[in-house]
Amino acid sequence: MVTAMRQCRFAILLTGLLLMLPVFLRADAPQSALHPAGPAAAEISHLARFVLILFLIVAAVMWILILLVLTRPRGSFDEHAPIHFERGYSWIWIGGFAVPIVILATVFVSGLRANSHFPIHDGPAHPADIRITGHQWWWDIEYLSGGVNQYFRTANEIHIPAGRPVDIELDSVDVIHSFWVPALHGKVDLVPGQVNHIRIEADQPGTYSGQCAEYCGAQHANMKLLVIADRPEEFERWEENQRQDSRQAVDEQQRAGQDLFLSRPCGLCHTIRGTLANGRVGPDLTHIGSRQKIAANMLPNDDANLAAWITHAQALKPASEMPDITQFDGRQLQAMVAYLRQLQ
Ligand code: CUA
Repeated sequence: MVTAMRQCRFAILLTGLLLMLPVFLRADAPQSALHPAGPAAAEISHLARFVLILFLIVAAVMWILILLVLTRPRGSFDEHAPIHFERGYSWIWIGGFAVPIVILATVFVSGLRANSHFPIHDGPAHPADIRITGHQWWWDIEYLSGGVNQYFRTANEIHIPAGRPVDIELDSVDVIHSFWVPALHGKVDLVPGQVNHIRIEADQPGTYSGQCAEYCGAQHANMKLLVIADRPEEFERWEENQRQDSRQAVDEQQRAGQDLFLSRPCGLCHTIRGTLANGRVGPDLTHIGSRQKIAANMLPNDDANLAAWITHAQALKPASEMPDITQFDGRQLQAMVAYLRQLQ
């Protein structure tokens, strides 16, 4: 009876976990492994569903056995009678060895199969299209297509052409991070001093959000990233624009903003190509105005958030390397925001 109670507890736990499933199934579609948007993620999603079905069958068999024991008429067995264990051996051999071996071997082989279609650890035969470097807590992104003079740098937002595989190499400058865009592929770690690879592909144009998936310090949860799959011609336009140096300030307010940016310490950490700002500690801001979000995709990229980020980064994202820059009056802050806004 004690064993039956123990099994009962285990089955309740298992059933509880299964009842939580709808929560995962209803997860936000653009950031869910259960709503794949590319071939690799589709393979992973099939595997997850297959394992889930196996799991349901095992849970059902356990419940049936427990109910059989619990509903056996009282008196049909004597708890104190000596146990004839020989008959129990077949349960151990079948339920304890044969069935788990078959199930685990099936899952193992299916996992190997899924991985062999979309290898994520071997580097591609040709150079990567994009290099992503993890920082606490943002993503440095370099586009490596074309000649070296065509390389360009951006941050936190990746554009890819829909329907084409994109090879990415991953590295880190500080601690271990993990690249995870659930709708496009599984996770791969960014390990300092070791280059890892992943190949992502989106079937359709769309925006797919991702998340650092390895705990990397205080702002790990706010180390988000955005993958935007464009139609190929849109992607080429985007790429062409990103290769350009920053736009020049056109009116007096923007010029004042640019002067402020260059006279304050901003340029020691940030690059704005085409100006004297060439820091590499923080994100490249050459085309910051074209990005959807700021602060590693924590906040929408609007004027109010930009101003708040410049003056109160430590309140918004404590422990990040962006200091509070407060030595402005309101007019100067507006000028700075106007300058950054036009960096399309
Ligand atoms: Cu980077 Cu967690």
